Amino acid sequence: METEDIRLTQSSIDLPWYPISVPAILAKVAQKNGRRKRPEHDAHQPRDNVRKIVNPFGEEVVQVDGDIPVGLPVNDGNRFLFISYDQSHLTHGLHKYPAKFFPELPRWLIKRYSQENDMILDPFSGSGTTNVEALLLRRNSVGIDVDPFSRFISTVKVTPLAKKELLEAQESLFNAVENYHPALVSELDIPSFPYRDNWFNREIILELAYLKKAIESLDKSKHVKDFFRVCFSSIIRAVSNADDNCTRTVIRKVLKKQVNPSDALRKFVETVLVKVPKMIEFSQNVPQGVTVNFPENMDARNIRCDTGTFDLVLTSPPYVNAVDYPRTHQLELYWLGFADGTLTPLKKKHVGTESVSSQDYRTRHQIGVGAADSVIEKIFEKDPRRAYIAFKYLDDMQKNLSEVYSVLRDGGRYIIVVGNNRIRGQLFESWKYLMVLAENIGFEIENYFGSEIIKHFIKVPRGERINTDWILVLRK
Ligand SMILES: C[S@@+](CC[C@H](N)C(=O)[O-])C[C@H]1O[C@@H](n2cnc3c(N)ncnc32)[C@H](O)[C@@H]1O
Repeated sequence: METEDIRLTQSSIDLPWYPISVPAILAKVAQKNGRRKRPEHDAHQPRDNVRKIVNPFGEEVVQVDGDIPVGLPVNDGNRFLFISYDQSHLTHGLHKYPAKFFPELPRWLIKRYSQENDMILDPFSGSGTTNVEALLLRRNSVGIDVDPFSRFISTVKVTPLAKKELLEAQESLFNAVENYHPALVSELDIPSFPYRDNWFNREIILELAYLKKAIESLDKSKHVKDFFRVCFSSIIRAVSNADDNCTRTVIRKVLKKQVNPSDALRKFVETVLVKVPKMIEFSQNVPQGVTVNFPENMDARNIRCDTGTFDLVLTSPPYVNAVDYPRTHQLELYWLGFADGTLTPLKKKHVGTESVSSQDYRTRHQIGVGAADSVIEKIFEKDPRRAYIAFKYLDDMQKNLSEVYSVLRDGGRYIIVVGNNRIRGQLFESWKYLMVLAENIGFEIENYFGSEIIKHFIKVPRGERINTDWILVLRK
């Protein structure tokens, strides 16, 4: 049978859809954009954006609004509340990503601890926030992440594109959307993956397959197509039946989420209208001659670079026992073709993974840091598996610390942003344990201070909150 002959069944073709009016969406998006304004920063003007406040728990915190002054005084144990305005500045907002940096933080640390033309590494680079900021500040950088989806988004975020190409591609995609008909989709256009028809309504599956095909058929470079693939990916969760506001991909019946025919087409147009101007602005601001690489086949525990390659290493590793990244991005991984079945092999590569085997947790393991081992022992009494996950996290981070020690130049800093969490009711203070592991490897602890997590800056019982990310400045 010829590909073109594999048509959908009549019942699929009869599914409803509503014709899309691009001008109507354009008017709506323009109205929204007019309301949202990022405050203009002038890096050269001193601004009075630092003040002391008292949080709802009666604790003193230093609040910084927007860009963080490079010379901000910092003492061990200080706590800061950084208010970010830049989460969708330039390419930063192209795609959601769990536990993403707010751009002002890496921007500040890069300016404070490196020079132009230096070489920077983020060994757990996620959506590439460090690399975007390094690029804009004229520092070369490398981002390592085991997740192909992360490397894909990050590469798009640092790749400038020509305005003309982007606008031509946008126009052909909008034409395609306006000419949508379910009969234009063939079964072969639709990816097959576990529980697909539960995650998505049939109309949405057809619309997504159509959009994907329209992007693949663009007569444009791979870079341009990849940019639109990221736009496509960014609407997938919203048009699925899964909860949009949960890091895990789950369908919550109680939410009674409503996804209507044509939602995928409409949301795609909306997102493109927001993201193309951001990409144009980024491309016009990006400096020339700066390198950014996201190598495949590297791992934060196995960084295959020469000794002393990097001047600064800056990262936020996963929290233990917190985000299951492959599960979070499973729908995007399937639609973009990065996975088609089990996610377990990818999960196993992740630091903090929950994919562990029962042989590993029959006995209790020790990392050799007293405070950590006594918490692991308490967890082990209740849940040997969780105890092993916690131990393995520290063991993996120990490997990462020693790899970074080797690829960092003498006098260079490794800055780690990490939070605490609770495992089986036990407070697991990762940042404290990492400081001991780092010192054992040879790092000097130059500084440590807290960054309050704004969404937790609300009154909840003291013991329950994970309200602070700790920033460790380690020096080789
Ligand atoms: C907290 S996120 C980083 C977010 C990033 N700072 C940003 O702004 O987007 C942690 C990242 O570590 C990655 N990761 C987990 N295990 C890894 C490993 N063994 N090597 C490299 N990256 C890993 C995950 O895929 C995830 O993207």
